[in-house]
Amino acid sequence: MSDRGRQGEPSSEDVRFGREEMLRLFQELSESGRRMLILTDHHTRQHCLPRLPLIGFSNSHTFSVPPGESSKSMDVVTGIWQALSDHHFDRHDVLVNLGGGMVCDLGGFAASCFKRGVAFVHVPTSLLAMADAAVGGKTGINFAGAKNQIGTFQSATAVVINSEFLDTLPLRELQAGYAEVLKHFLIHDADAWHRAASGLHLPTDWNPVLEAAVRTKLHFTMADPTEKGIRKALNFGHTIGHALESHFLQQTAMPPLLHGEAVAAGMACEAFLACQRRLLRKTAFEEVWQTLHRIFGKIDFEVEDVAGIAAWCLQDKKNAGGKVNCTLLKGIGGFALDQWCTLKELEGCLQAYHSGFEERILP
Ligand SMILES: NC(=O)c1ccc[n+]([C@@H]2O[C@H](COP(=O)([O-])OP(=O)(O)OC[C@H]3O[C@@H](n4cnc5c(N)ncnc54)[C@H](O)[C@@H]3O)[C@@H](O)[C@H]2O)c1
Repeated sequence: MSDRGRQGEPSSEDVRFGREEMLRLFQELSESGRRMLILTDHHTRQHCLPRLPLIGFSNSHTFSVPPGESSKSMDVVTGIWQALSDHHFDRHDVLVNLGGGMVCDLGGFAASCFKRGVAFVHVPTSLLAMADAAVGGKTGINFAGAKNQIGTFQSATAVVINSEFLDTLPLRELQAGYAEVLKHFLIHDADAWHRAASGLHLPTDWNPVLEAAVRTKLHFTMADPTEKGIRKALNFGHTIGHALESHFLQQTAMPPLLHGEAVAAGMACEAFLACQRRLLRKTAFEEVWQTLHRIFGKIDFEVEDVAGIAAWCLQDKKNAGGKVNCTLLKGIGGFALDQWCTLKELEGCLQAYHSGFEERILP
């Protein structure tokens, strides 16, 4: 294993697939004599840690944090730094992040700051982390109530994607992760999208799906590691998706949406907007909506809440001058950046979604 991916070099990534590659990576780690700290959350410690090939490691330790977004915090990072200090870690050693996107973001951030950057390896265990969070070099924690406010751009030294970990992932998490996979296909890989759209529900063989999804993610992140331009394409579905997520967080009577569930609805709304702007044909929109609806169903909210949900879009990081900046589809497999939208248009999309896109006349 090389020392690639040091701070400031996020452009190339060593991404490997399958159990054999995982065995090889751990063999390399063992032979290198590095100390290793394995970061898990309590679920991945129970379900995934026993699957790591750790026999023969004399110098490995584990550190487990509570599952969920609340662990992406400064307090938890301090705990990880303390553990690295206690085990006398230096830049030659390695932090292994074994978990979903939460563990990858958290561990990546902790490692990228400790002693100005120790090596870290991602072993993603959720579909979302395999297809998205573990690749591309974004790390981060939440701060002052806002997501991912503090973070670094820092690629993992290696990422190893073994779809066998998905065996224990709860079905709702698996389904939500699939939304990000479909987003990758919609903006960049029309063939993979059409294959997914012709399936009835979730794929049974994840390996080709993951390889295609990661190829797309790398296409954007290697071209634009620090999100100055083309990487913004990956935000398709996220403007309205984040607004729905924030709205549901405020509704104490309703369970929060998973990120992917909100993104699926956001993609349907934003595909509708693309269709209204004649960036997407009506038949293509219908295929997008029918596929998303079949897999994710429809999120329930009150029509009276539409204006409030649309207003959340004003918080989006990409906005400027009080206008909302969306990435929209430009045909299937293409995208249009910097599409400025009014609140009225966003409300129109949400209303159309609410009615199942039945009452709207498309061009
Ligand atoms: N860095 C990036 O580019 C990027 C991209 C997208 C999302 N993210 C971040 O990723 C996070 C969301 O990731 P997530 O959806 O994986 O959530 P998560 O990491 O919280 O995992 C979801 C749940 O699944 C459990 N889990 C994970 N793998 C499991 C397995 N194999 N078996 C049993 N349980 C398992 C976890 O313990 C958790 O309860 C968010 O914090 C988001 O900000 C980062």
